[in-house]
Amino acid sequence: MRVAIIGQGYVGLTIAVGAASAGHQVIGFDINDVLVARLKAGKSHIEGVSGDELSRLIASGTYLASSDPAALDGSDVIVIAVPTPLDEARNPDLLFVHAASDLISAHVKSPALIINESTSYPGTLRKEIAARISGVDHLYASSPERVDPGNTQWSTKNTPRLIGGLTPAAVVRAKEFYGSFCDIIIEVSSPEVAEAAKIFENTFRQVNIALVNEFAQIADALGISGREVLAAAATKPYGFMEFNPGPGVGGHCIPVDPSYLAHVANEVGVPATFIKRANEVNLAMPAYVVKRVVEGAGGPISGKKVVVVGISYKSNVADTRETPAAAVIDLLREQGASVVWHDDLVGTWRGESSSPINGADIAVVVTKHDGMDVSAIKACGYVFDCTGSIAGVDGI
Ligand SMILES: NC(=O)c1ccc[n+]([C@@H]2O[C@H](COP(=O)([O-])OP(=O)(O)OC[C@H]3O[C@@H](n4cnc5c(N)ncnc54)[C@H](O)[C@@H]3O)[C@@H](O)[C@H]2O)c1
Repeated sequence: MRVAIIGQGYVGLTIAVGAASAGHQVIGFDINDVLVARLKAGKSHIEGVSGDELSRLIASGTYLASSDPAALDGSDVIVIAVPTPLDEARNPDLLFVHAASDLISAHVKSPALIINESTSYPGTLRKEIAARISGVDHLYASSPERVDPGNTQWSTKNTPRLIGGLTPAAVVRAKEFYGSFCDIIIEVSSPEVAEAAKIFENTFRQVNIALVNEFAQIADALGISGREVLAAAATKPYGFMEFNPGPGVGGHCIPVDPSYLAHVANEVGVPATFIKRANEVNLAMPAYVVKRVVEGAGGPISGKKVVVVGISYKSNVADTRETPAAAVIDLLREQGASVVWHDDLVGTWRGESSSPINGADIAVVVTKHDGMDVSAIKACGYVFDCTGSIAGVDGI
């Protein structure tokens, strides 16, 4: 099939490579010219796709990056994989989805199967995409992306894929497309079910992470190890699922997607109380971390040299979007500490560069990548570990 993927970020590039590897002719379309030039040169910007793999697909003629919207026309399949952020009032902001739909409307004159993979609330495919695209009789399907960057066990290929179509013909075509590079396809009765399943999955994670974050605080106040309790609870073979406490939630999905569900819930008159409370608990974790660091380090930290280790939002990825490290660093600075950060995968961030770990009075480990220098961390005067992976030090 001739496939165009709109958006070449974490999701779009992953799908582009999956489809190109299956032998489809893929155009990776993005409005970011710098990114397109890099992709054309075979340089990948995400962990799950190597430069070698990209170069091989380019050489075989199955992948071509482009910023020319004219390249979209003539596609059998067009996948939308663009950001779905929140606006300043934390409401869904569909500007990128609308822009992608308008591009299709303006440039695609032959009928195609249009699939939305961007995460959004139920009704997005029908009301915000299909209703905006005029002039051509396209087919429409929703297949929310479940990719977990950096996860080596679950990939696009072996993660079951949900599909909901606006019409039976759209479902048939979407199954044909995804069936060529995904092992398990699950058809649901409507795009709204597929869209809602995705945001419920992420809400489930957000709420459970908030629950263990609150529990970690209760356990610490009781003088017992929250992580030991959670590990003990996880020995129950049924009816329990393990989640880990941490310094807050980061990334583009867990802190954002539940607010899409809360938004539609409010529109239909159901207050999404769990989502609101989970947001409050998770957003308060950096302040809790800093309070524990001050107590653990033996009092005021003004003038102390602090290194925050691991500033991406999770291990083994360089993604700093919504990272709780930002609030941890800001709050430590508000306490008068002299704060630097170290991350083996992130070179520069917020106009600052990664600094060495050595020589700090206090190390606060927010995220631990494989191969991080634990001995340098342990050589600091006081260590507070938010990851539960460094033995013999304070933490959550
Ligand atoms: N990153 C993840 O782990 C993940 C997982 C599942 C679902 N999602 C969802 O997938 C969607 C995309 O997320 P992402 O992480 O790939 O985002 P991203 O920011 O990594 O990439 C999005 C890309 O879209 C491009 N773009 C924006 N507007 C465009 C337009 N009009 N035309 C062409 N390109 C355009 C941007 O330049 C960018 O390169 C979001 O809805 C997100 O919630 C993300």
